[in-house]
Amino acid sequence: MTTMFPVDKIISQIDKLPSLPTSVGKVIEVANNPKASPVELSNVIKIDPVLTAKVLKLVNSAYFSLPDQITNLNRAIILLGINTIKNLAISTAVVGQFSKTKHKRFDIDKYWKHCMAVAVLSKKFAQQLKVDKRFLEEYFIAGLLHDIGEVVIIELFPDKLDQMMNKVDAGAGLEEVEREFLGSTHSEIGAALGRHWKISENLIAVIEEHHDPNIAGDFAQMVLTVHMANIYCNQNNLGMPGCHTAAAAPEIIAKLGLDPGMIAEATSNLDEELNKATSFLKTAGAA
Ligand SMILES: [Fe+2]
Ligand SMILES: [Fe+2]
Repeated sequence: MTTMFPVDKIISQIDKLPSLPTSVGKVIEVANNPKASPVELSNVIKIDPVLTAKVLKLVNSAYFSLPDQITNLNRAIILLGINTIKNLAISTAVVGQFSKTKHKRFDIDKYWKHCMAVAVLSKKFAQQLKVDKRFLEEYFIAGLLHDIGEVVIIELFPDKLDQMMNKVDAGAGLEEVEREFLGSTHSEIGAALGRHWKISENLIAVIEEHHDPNIAGDFAQMVLTVHMANIYCNQNNLGMPGCHTAAAAPEIIAKLGLDPGMIAEATSNLDEELNKATSFLKTAGAA
């Protein structure tokens, strides 16, 4: 069932998945340069009219609730920041890539709703934790992408999914089942995709470690934040199909510094925020 280096085998398959559009790769490259100016970023986005249109659509979506319509890319970048625009480009590319993915045994609508909820809540937890405003959108995108490996599994192994979901429905843990059938998990597979696509290290760390916060390294705060948001959603009707999550470990909560009051505050108007964010997902290409 499992081969000696299953992850390597899967990675060779991932290499066959489409790359991110070249323009998105360029956006990531420019945005990762701390000296990059808004004009430089705008110039690489402008080369791709589809990307330009999508980014402007996202900027003007209900998610940001800006008072005026923004039609100029430079202005959008100055208003929302280089980091946010980079994240918009990544999310539209990634979500768009998998917008047609479906499988009869997997509730894909529930899946995207879960990703969206984890995105919204990760950002809200980050706000409670007083994360620098410039990085809040990064938490949103990290939450949005944390389970991206799951859609890769559907794309690459549709034939195995029936049997896998049978086991999950009978009560087995999703990750154990993935390990048994594929020799790898959606965390590892998602991280391999992230590396293939050259998205930033912190996002890859979240994808790889969101179920195993004990190994969180350089990006511990972001990994733990998404880990907590994921657990909350799985326990509150916003779960990933097939995910049975245990409660968060007290030492993880303590390490992150997220107290019950902050959790209550962050989750108080989750439904409303989720509605706004759903428009984001629609604009980005899924749902
Ligand atoms: Fe997960
Ligand atoms: Fe999840």
